[in-house]
Amino acid sequence: MATRRLGIVMVGVTGRMGLNQHLVRSILAIRAQGGVALANGDRVMPDPLLVGRNAEKVSAIAKQHGIGRWTTDLDQALADPQDEVFFDAATTQLRAELLTRAINAGKHVYCEKPVADTLAKALALARLAAKKKVKNGVVQDKLFLPGLCKLRKLRDSGFFGRMLSVRGEFGYWVFEGDWGPPAQRPSWNYKKAEGGGIILDMLCHWRYVLDDLFGKVKAVSCLGANHITTRVDEDGRPYEADADDAAYATFQLEGGVVAHMNSSWCVRVRRDDLVTFQVDGTHGSAVAGLTRCFAQSREKTPRPVWNPDVPQAMDFFSQWEEIEPNAAYDNGFKVQWENFIRHVCADAPWRHDLREGAKGVQLAELGLQSWRERRWLDVPELEL
Ligand SMILES: NC(=O)c1ccc[n+]([C@@H]2O[C@H](COP(=O)([O-])OP(=O)(O)OC[C@H]3O[C@@H](n4cnc5c(N)ncnc54)[C@H](O)[C@@H]3O)[C@@H](O)[C@H]2O)c1
Repeated sequence: MATRRLGIVMVGVTGRMGLNQHLVRSILAIRAQGGVALANGDRVMPDPLLVGRNAEKVSAIAKQHGIGRWTTDLDQALADPQDEVFFDAATTQLRAELLTRAINAGKHVYCEKPVADTLAKALALARLAAKKKVKNGVVQDKLFLPGLCKLRKLRDSGFFGRMLSVRGEFGYWVFEGDWGPPAQRPSWNYKKAEGGGIILDMLCHWRYVLDDLFGKVKAVSCLGANHITTRVDEDGRPYEADADDAAYATFQLEGGVVAHMNSSWCVRVRRDDLVTFQVDGTHGSAVAGLTRCFAQSREKTPRPVWNPDVPQAMDFFSQWEEIEPNAAYDNGFKVQWENFIRHVCADAPWRHDLREGAKGVQLAELGLQSWRERRWLDVPELEL
């Protein structure tokens, strides 16, 4: 049994996702557990090189987490063949350019979603990666959420009978920043010119969730909205928030399932979780949140009577049974990292590649077009 080192150049680690989910919850957690086990019994130990523009910030993170390697020189990092993997969790707008440089330098690449801010760029990346024969991948974290894993098990067991519809609610109130609590998301998310907008941000998630769990997305109708038009940024300065901050989208899926997803940063939560998916089928229904999943079979379905003259006597929430309440799942970002590392080091199967990432960008672009043109649009097959 041998342990090999895998050098990973990491960009965007001073940001929310890069620091919390990718560095701390994934790479450092993998290091702490002794690396990633391969099928042949060998182990791989990731060795991060943190790259950032601000030496003070990036060195502070390295120091805080006991990481020996950091730099502000991306070119030098890309030139060193000892670091085989490049990872990017910087802002969406920068991604395509950073990945292009990394692929051209011969790195295997892994990145946050969306893989680019336009479909043309996303496809160019997927083609370049294929041409250069580098391994490549995109984060599809929602597939690893415990709630959705439980929903998948119900689907595989035939629990739903014929699946009819999926209704998803995503969102929470993102504070404007001009009163009370500070905004909890970066200001670029709310500026069109900086790659913001909830349609680009969320439809790329909904693409792989729908494709993978409920049926391939065949058509989309999307109504965006820019509900809140002034926000206050990280430095306390008011700015024009001109990007879509809510999207009300309907999808037709292969097999006839109708899916509707509401995504909003302007909604107050009165539901089980920050995202919930309700699936209704002829034989049963289920509602999954981030971690929990509740189901109701056809036999347990109540028969309420509509009567506006009396307050509702049924407690609908108590009529659902929790699925696997005690099951333990590892952090989804970490699980996906482990799979990617096995793919890079041992050719293990991997399906979350840049082409799959491009499908997400395709759906986001079609969603924006549908909103602009006020019409349904078919989703064509993606040709590489
Ligand atoms: N998978 C998910 O659930 C999920 C959730 C949130 C965000 N994201 C994605 O993660 C990415 C980062 O989002 P975030 O919320 O962490 O953003 P953030 O603003 O917190 O972090 C952005 C990072 O990019 C760096 N950066 C900004 N401008 C740069 C430049 N010009 N050159 C080099 N680096 C630069 C920042 O220093 C920071 O490290 C986005 O693409 C977003 O779509 C994914």
